[in-house]
Amino acid sequence: MLNRAKFLFATLSLVLWLDAGTSLAQQPPQQSSKHEQAQQKSQDPWWKHAVIYEIYPRSFQDSNGDGVGDINGITSRLDYIHDLGIDAIWISPMYPSPLIDFGYDISDYTAIDPLYGTLADFDHLVSEAKKRNIRVIMDFVPNHTSDQHPWFKESRSSRSNPKRDWYIWRDGNAMGQPPNNWQSWFGHSAWKLDPATNQYYYHHFYTEQPDLNWRNPQVRKAMYDAMRFWLKRGVAGFRIDAVSRLFEDPNLHDDPILPGKNAYGDPNIAHKYTDNLPEVHEVLREMRKVVNAYPGNPVMISEADEPNIAELAKKVQLPMDFQIADVNKLSAPDFRRLLNEIDRNAVGGQPHYFFSNHDQPRQWDRYGDGVHNDQIAKLMAALLLATRATPLMYYGEELGMRTTEPARKEDVQDPIGKIGWPEEKGRDGERTPMQWDASRNAGFSASQHPWLPVPPSASIYNVVAEAQNPKSILAFYKRLLALRRNEPALRDGRYLPLNQEDTNVLSFLRKEPGRGEAILVVLNMSAEPRTIKFDLSAHGVKGGSANPLLAAPEIGAESTQLNHFSVPAFGVFIGSVD
Ligand code: NOJ
Repeated sequence: MLNRAKFLFATLSLVLWLDAGTSLAQQPPQQSSKHEQAQQKSQDPWWKHAVIYEIYPRSFQDSNGDGVGDINGITSRLDYIHDLGIDAIWISPMYPSPLIDFGYDISDYTAIDPLYGTLADFDHLVSEAKKRNIRVIMDFVPNHTSDQHPWFKESRSSRSNPKRDWYIWRDGNAMGQPPNNWQSWFGHSAWKLDPATNQYYYHHFYTEQPDLNWRNPQVRKAMYDAMRFWLKRGVAGFRIDAVSRLFEDPNLHDDPILPGKNAYGDPNIAHKYTDNLPEVHEVLREMRKVVNAYPGNPVMISEADEPNIAELAKKVQLPMDFQIADVNKLSAPDFRRLLNEIDRNAVGGQPHYFFSNHDQPRQWDRYGDGVHNDQIAKLMAALLLATRATPLMYYGEELGMRTTEPARKEDVQDPIGKIGWPEEKGRDGERTPMQWDASRNAGFSASQHPWLPVPPSASIYNVVAEAQNPKSILAFYKRLLALRRNEPALRDGRYLPLNQEDTNVLSFLRKEPGRGEAILVVLNMSAEPRTIKFDLSAHGVKGGSANPLLAAPEIGAESTQLNHFSVPAFGVFIGSVD
């Protein structure tokens, strides 16, 4: 499982794409007056203070008993999302699709798949969400369409079709083999021979997902029009899928071969000529213009593949390094190094962190040690929600939902699990139904056969049970989200790392510039209790102890003396200091 996360999505990351005008460089200087700060805050776009929650629509709530989640199901759960403390939901694709990649293979960009409902249902969702101050972010998939999209059907029909150049078509090489050695992220050659015209088309992902040709201005126009369609319906922005893959080397250079083989048995390669080409940034700028023409500060969240923070900052002027999602072990030094890099990068911007999503094994088991997983789930929640960032949660992480992989190949739904079995079991494990209660199918669906089985853990880890238990993971998330909302220092304050030599405990201050208010965050990433000493005088803190706001497990006042601070194994402490 970890192998897969590392191999397949290790370099996939999410970044908030910012206007140059909203970069950290333009935040108030440290000593700015209260008035200046208030002004700055009122100019801040909403997404800078928001918590975003990803919903995988197939798995959230089924309203019509067909075993698959749908839009009306999501609408029926908006009160839960609101009470949790979420500001915006990003919904994975719900467009018409043959569902080879469960919606990431789109056959119509301006409609809703009947499986999920209708456009009227979608409009209703947006308006009901708005009543609760929840924004709706669409998933947008520009790199490829489905092979069932009418554009591709036309394109493949003849070499002279007007839409031929909307996709990437090439002759085979002199040996009658694919044009070069480029590989799909989902295994084997990225080229597929289409007998109708005896040419190959390029697909970065599944063969049923042909890549669009973004060098063609008609493609750009059609895709920007699709974005406008949703913006007019009131969406608050887009999460843009696989954005770094938009362009390929027009000269078709072979990718460099690396040692070893991947889970699909192919030679490892560096995706040098199909990833991160500079033209991507031109497209992002154009998309930004499209989005900026609409009111309400729509956001663009991009899934990007950036090798390191310097590259990220250079190309997209952001301070983010989403390698943080892939640290994959509880390591205070590793997290500290990445948090520091992000915070200190010269270009500025707003970090956007996440640990789980529909492509990553869930954090409960990925970071859990097999013994203290529930406590570690709280620790990870604090790492996500108490650092300086716009956090992104994945449905069910607030319950401690775990990765539940299929036991047998014949149960696998995600095609990569079929191609790569048993080494690669696919992504079904992190897409199982939301666990609402202890009833059959965990309250997800009335069907006898939900599209994925409900994990056995649902009998204990579910919304109803956890809402009644003040020590549950859900109760912790709710308190933490409320704290983040109510404490400006925690939500917007600067990030000041502390005790940087400590190999076990990650500690930092969140401090509002120009104001005394500071919040101390202490995260013990080790299995032993730790006693540490803080000297916060350089940060203007005069008091000798911290006043607890949230701690798990709870600790007594004697533990919060700054010169003798005790934190239990995997303990979390958040408290105010002055
Ligand atoms: C990234 C998406 O997150 C993933 O689920 C999908 O399979 C690929 N893009 C291809 O669209």
